Amino acid sequence: MDKLCIIGGIPLKGEISISGAKNASLPLMVASLLSDKPLTLENLPHVEDILSMANLLATLGVKLTMEGCGTSQNAQGKVITFDASTLSSRKAPYDLVRKMRASILVLGPLLARTGYAKVSLPGGCAIGARPVNLHLKAMEKLGAEIEIEQGYVIAKAPKGLRGANIEFPVVTVGGTENALMAAVLAKGTTCLTNAAREPEIIDLANCLVSMGAKIQGIGTTKLVVEGVETLFPATHRVIPDRIETGTYMIAGAITGGSITLRNARLDTLPAFVKKLREAGVILIEEEGKIHVSVEEEGLRGVDITTAPHPGFPTDLQAQTMALLCTAKGKSSIIEAIFENRFMHVPELIRMGANISLNGNTASIKGVNRLHSAEVMATDLRASVSLVLAALVADGKTTVNRIYHLDRGYEYVEAKLRSLGAQIERLKDA
Ligand code: UD1
Repeated sequence: MDKLCIIGGIPLKGEISISGAKNASLPLMVASLLSDKPLTLENLPHVEDILSMANLLATLGVKLTMEGCGTSQNAQGKVITFDASTLSSRKAPYDLVRKMRASILVLGPLLARTGYAKVSLPGGCAIGARPVNLHLKAMEKLGAEIEIEQGYVIAKAPKGLRGANIEFPVVTVGGTENALMAAVLAKGTTCLTNAAREPEIIDLANCLVSMGAKIQGIGTTKLVVEGVETLFPATHRVIPDRIETGTYMIAGAITGGSITLRNARLDTLPAFVKKLREAGVILIEEEGKIHVSVEEEGLRGVDITTAPHPGFPTDLQAQTMALLCTAKGKSSIIEAIFENRFMHVPELIRMGANISLNGNTASIKGVNRLHSAEVMATDLRASVSLVLAALVADGKTTVNRIYHLDRGYEYVEAKLRSLGAQIERLKDA
């Protein structure tokens, strides 16, 4: 498995471009299943999860045509046209689903368009049990019969789905996306309440509208969908990746550097931006660029609780913890979304961080310096938090198992290197 070797202590300087959002791209790609008309997506990032989803869609019979391909960190993302008029299978097999949990998103569109879907249950993952019960309940509300057989969800609605009132007891991003896509082709009106309203869901809803869907309440916790019979060809540009944006903001700040992020937006990260400013990070947005630097007095501790959007994103929790490890004073982080999302803590402690854990609360006392170590990553965001810590640690840190990183960060070492970081990938022999 590939490793990253990083020599820390260099303040980052320069400008990079933020890629298209992975978590917006995945449901957008799946939305192509709803229609027999082509859907063209622009600004898709070149990351493993996108390849996995492309592979799954191809297995279902979708024809993919690549019109442009990013070849460097400054490239404009990929443009792919998805043509699901050739749909030939309604089964998402275990081997593909287990690689990427977001594969469960094909359930709603397949069921809505064809009245049947067989999708492997994704199972747990490093950050928690992550059930899909709310996805299945939503499909049942829309009139589907659901059975679980040999690890597969089998969903049937031979007479088609019909509109329903669906109230989510817990805010779920994937559950909202699945139900929203299914409701687009269901007969009558569907009302989703306590829906997630992450920017990625807004992006999906906007794309569905440009395909001909009738959706009201976009950006709120109540989505009302009037089912339609047919959809049209459409072209949609994926929003910039707000989690990648936040990650590089921290890279700039943790090294005491001064960097600029192109194609980035602060409005998709309200709670994160507020906390970073409270911690002493200077963030200035002008003309689609964000300038990142640190106040003269340096970084200071802050208290954080993760929450659904517009709250503090759980996907930036690990990276923010790395930042707070060297901030003056005390900080606390409560992880309120996933039950086991502190796998990076023991690794950060091995690099000299002072962190104690009590249930879902991490208490951090800032230290003057982190030091290098051999560390191992367990999930996507934990991996990048170790890279961030390594950027400021004394000496050479090796981050092992970086395949997690490749799932969600486009050209990570090229981008960091162009900001002046000393970072090298050691390929598995
Ligand atoms: C998405 C994101 C992931 C992010 C997460 C929370 C994608 C591809 N992934 O994941 O990066 O960390 O949102 O912002 O966009 N839950 C249930 N039953 C369900 C579904 C969810 O109990 O059927 C629980 C989960 O266990 C979790 C909480 O709801 O505790 C939120 O999960 P959810 O928003 O569904 O996360 P994902 O959509 O899987």
